[in-house]
Amino acid sequence: MNKNVISCQINDLSQVPDAALFDFANKETVRHVHDFHRSLPGYRPTPLVRLPGLADYLGIRELWIKDENHRFDLQAFKVLGASYAMAKCLGEVIGLGDDELTYHNIIAHKSAYDHITFVTATDGNHGRAVAWAAKLFGCKAVVYLPKGSSLIRLEAIRHYGAQASITGMNFDDSVMHASGKAQENGWTLLQDTSWEGYEKVPRHIMQGYSTLITESIGPGKAHLPTHVFVQAGVGSFAAAMAGTLVSLAGGDAPTLIVVEPEGAPCLFESSKKEERVRIQGDLATIMAGLSCGEPSLIGWQVLKSAVSAFLMCSDEVARKGMKVLGNPLPEDPCIISGESGAVTLGALFEIMTDKQNMKIRKDIGLNSDSRVLLFSTEGDTDPDLYRDIVWA
Ligand SMILES: Cc1ncc(COP(=O)(O)O)c(C=O)c1O
Repeated sequence: MNKNVISCQINDLSQVPDAALFDFANKETVRHVHDFHRSLPGYRPTPLVRLPGLADYLGIRELWIKDENHRFDLQAFKVLGASYAMAKCLGEVIGLGDDELTYHNIIAHKSAYDHITFVTATDGNHGRAVAWAAKLFGCKAVVYLPKGSSLIRLEAIRHYGAQASITGMNFDDSVMHASGKAQENGWTLLQDTSWEGYEKVPRHIMQGYSTLITESIGPGKAHLPTHVFVQAGVGSFAAAMAGTLVSLAGGDAPTLIVVEPEGAPCLFESSKKEERVRIQGDLATIMAGLSCGEPSLIGWQVLKSAVSAFLMCSDEVARKGMKVLGNPLPEDPCIISGESGAVTLGALFEIMTDKQNMKIRKDIGLNSDSRVLLFSTEGDTDPDLYRDIVWA
């Protein structure tokens, strides 16, 4: 029996979306965000890797993978959002405008803000990013991880001096716990998901993610892919990619496909029911970064107007992606990709190689002319699990 199961929900894009939805990622903001990231010590763009051998094997024209295993020393893209949102908070305290928001301008005023404590709930990668950025700017960080989180990920957060602990709750309840602690202690909540009344910080986090597109595609339309697959937990990352692509390319924006685990398909279900829904329970999946039960409010508003299809995948699909990327064809480089990072490649692989997925292939228009961009959003952030899967 094939365990590499993919379900597809085609999204209705017949209504012309309100352009204001995508304005959070307008060209000027995206430029400011990139300038800020470039000011951080040790910044360099992560590799955009071309895989000609695998593209040929899958029957598509081009395949590029943005490899976030090399993002600072953090092995995941999330710091692009956390560092920018933290800088915006500190810039507000100091009184810096967007064009003055640089690492050096911020730390020159450290005494004005070093009493601030940032708090967040996280699967691991966002918490590691918040801890890293707090250490960089000289603030404190408190991080709550959901039940079942790996001890390796907990230690990786503590490594940067944050106070971190594993709660007995799932991700969504841990977020509410962090929000309560922020109110109780006068801490600043730096959360990567949004709800009614909590939108400003998550919008800054989404803006921070835009640097991934700036680094991948640049200002012109010359290197636009035809298809972009994005993995989603709460959908902030996917919505940031959608918004940046639309503001960059307008009507020429690529077909966007969102990929989620079958243990936590909150966007897939929201698309099916045509409203934002919350999934209850343990949200069990090996894709820890995608184990979220409720879509981000702003994320969902953007995605329902920009995504062509929502895919829901078994864990086996993520495992397949990790193995294929870690064991490349002779002409391709090796990419170390973790569970949440590799699921989009696993999905593309299954769609292009398994006859059972022929309808999905047709529905999303994948063929020999397709130029596909994927994001390996994390490396082996849980090295023991990585080895278990890739060696198995
Ligand atoms: C590695 C990785 N990829 C993708 C995501 C999904 O991002 P979002 O929750 O914004 O959808 C996460 C979230 O933590 C992640 O850690």
